[in-house]
Amino acid sequence: MRSIEQRAVQAYREQFLEEPAIIASAPGRVNLIGEHTDYNGGFVLPCAVEQRVAVAVGAVGHESGQLYSADFRELCPLTGKRTGSWADYPCGVVWALTAQGHEVPLFRATFAGDVPLGSGLSSSAAIEAATALALDAFFHLGISGKDLAVLCQQAENGFVGVNSGIMDQYASLLSQAGMALLIDCRTLEAEAVPLDLAAAGLTLVVCDTQVPRELSATGYNARRQTCERAAHALGVKELRDAHIQDLDRLSGEELKRARHVVTENARVLEAAEALRRDDFVEFGRLMYASHRSLRDDYEVSTPELNAFVDLAAQFRALGARLTGAGFGGCAIALIKSEGAQALVESVRQHFAGRGFPRPIFYTFQPAAGAEVVR
Ligand code: GLA
Repeated sequence: MRSIEQRAVQAYREQFLEEPAIIASAPGRVNLIGEHTDYNGGFVLPCAVEQRVAVAVGAVGHESGQLYSADFRELCPLTGKRTGSWADYPCGVVWALTAQGHEVPLFRATFAGDVPLGSGLSSSAAIEAATALALDAFFHLGISGKDLAVLCQQAENGFVGVNSGIMDQYASLLSQAGMALLIDCRTLEAEAVPLDLAAAGLTLVVCDTQVPRELSATGYNARRQTCERAAHALGVKELRDAHIQDLDRLSGEELKRARHVVTENARVLEAAEALRRDDFVEFGRLMYASHRSLRDDYEVSTPELNAFVDLAAQFRALGARLTGAGFGGCAIALIKSEGAQALVESVRQHFAGRGFPRPIFYTFQPAAGAEVVR
């Protein structure tokens, strides 16, 4: 068992003075390329990070269902009401299961996680995925990984109230160790593409800029709406179906947003192709192009994210880009391993000099998706 899973078990023993019946965990994710394409029916290429959320689940007698977070040291009731706390994610999963007609008896659960919160590494998808997988196993629901991903997205959209696409939940549930996952967000078909960074002598540096993503919900929803308007104006179901030559029928914001989505979808497919032949130089070029498009056309970057990408280029990173929704959060750089530390030092200095928040860095090997471990 991973240490984070042991923490969830330990918390279960301490809280409920019993052994849990099921232990599961699910990772956060980093998206390598394919941003703001998922809700346009397009393509994404994420992989799981090593940080996870673990859950230990067991039955209750006649008392009510309970949820305990070892990180927040907080016991919450299992309810059908939103409270604005971490418990909304597991409660949302139960809500979505019930809405789909599944029988979910009362249960109790403890949670422990090390996915950084609110930084764009999808801690919320990790807690949803871990809960969904654990409940599926505990109550013998027999739901497929893909359907669990859809269900977790419904929890996020319909219960938590965040209008996200399917990428984060899908990546958390279905990623494989050592692989990136090319997901077609319309058909929900996926292909695991080997990503052996160590063998290539490369490191993926994640920079959490620590810029709070306060405006992200409004900005995110506004982007979604503009994309829908653009698709409507072009007479297509989703921007996935638009071609670059169609775009001259659009103007202003709709043109810029649609141009990002159409070119980004093409970049994801090219990037997956580059990975299949271990062409990290081409992969990196596509990362930089993705960042420019997110900065100039989709307008979701920040000075901090741009500064990181510019420094990465100066340090000869093969590629760099913001990752996740943008508006703050994380950026990534793909760089020769021997150069990673110098980049990190320089970003620290540069950020301090410009009065930016103190960034936090992570490196990782692509990790396994959600698992029931016992
Ligand atoms: C957030 C959402 C995802 C996706 C990304 C942008 O992470 O949760 O569904 O839309 O933003 O690519």
